Amino acid sequence: MQRLIGRVALVTGGASGMGKQTALRLAREGARVVIGDIDEVGAKETTEQIREEGGEATLRPYDASLETSCVELVSSAIEKYGQLDVVANIAGISAFYRLDEISTEIFERFLSVNLTSPLIICREAMPHLKRTRGSIVNIASVNARVCAPYHAAYGASKAGILALTKSLAIEFAADGVRVNAICPGGFDTPMNEDHRMPKGIDEGLLARLYPLDEMGNAEQIAGLIAYLASDEASYISGEDIVIDGGLRSAL
Ligand SMILES: NC(=O)c1ccc[n+]([C@@H]2O[C@H](COP(=O)([O-])OP(=O)(O)OC[C@H]3O[C@@H](n4cnc5c(N)ncnc54)[C@H](O)[C@@H]3O)[C@@H](O)[C@H]2O)c1
Repeated sequence: MQRLIGRVALVTGGASGMGKQTALRLAREGARVVIGDIDEVGAKETTEQIREEGGEATLRPYDASLETSCVELVSSAIEKYGQLDVVANIAGISAFYRLDEISTEIFERFLSVNLTSPLIICREAMPHLKRTRGSIVNIASVNARVCAPYHAAYGASKAGILALTKSLAIEFAADGVRVNAICPGGFDTPMNEDHRMPKGIDEGLLARLYPLDEMGNAEQIAGLIAYLASDEASYISGEDIVIDGGLRSAL
């Protein structure tokens, strides 16, 4: 499908996992893609793959924990292409901690990368999205809606994404800008390959919540983002769409 011809999409986290597959998918749908990631090697690989497939992409080094970097990511997209139609806030970090391990520094790191950066990018992108009547897709997590043990910092950051998304959806509805969130369950990406686990925890609790042999794949997330970014989803805003293979129904 070629639903995004003539559009410009900004994708954070485009070096790996869901962000990479989303950048590839949006480019295949016709969008020119700006990729922001702290992993410059991975972002370059994604950019090159898009170009090899005949698409158009550019990369921008981006550290989600730095406000200046978030601001520059948006302004670089405008400098390069002169417009912005789609923002996909996908970059994120995850790890499990017992409560007694969560220092203020760790908690603030989760908030900074997973929540503050999407907020800044939405803020900076909004004037441009109002011009194109564009849309935003923020990646939250099922942990924003149902909670996992040892995931207080991560879950809090992702729950914040839902509030951010819904608030902006209402605030900018009259401007024609749609804002949605996706809540993935367990997905087979590099994030889950070396997930930090604390010592001395109840492994059984986590095993029940994460049936690791039934993970989704990043292409499924990319497909949903492409749909939400397209005109086919023109009446969908303020939603938090769960994509978890039925996991929540089994709890
Ligand atoms: N994989 C899952 O099971 C799952 C489930 C629910 C939600 N999510 C969310 O989906 C999103 C994508 O995760 P993924 O599974 O593709 O993981 P991933 O680790 O493959 O990708 C995350 C990307 O974010 C980038 N990133 C991390 N810190 C950054 C920083 N400070 N600045 C800029 N970029 C940074 C990484 O370099 C990487 O490219 C994340 O927000 C994650 O929380 C993932």
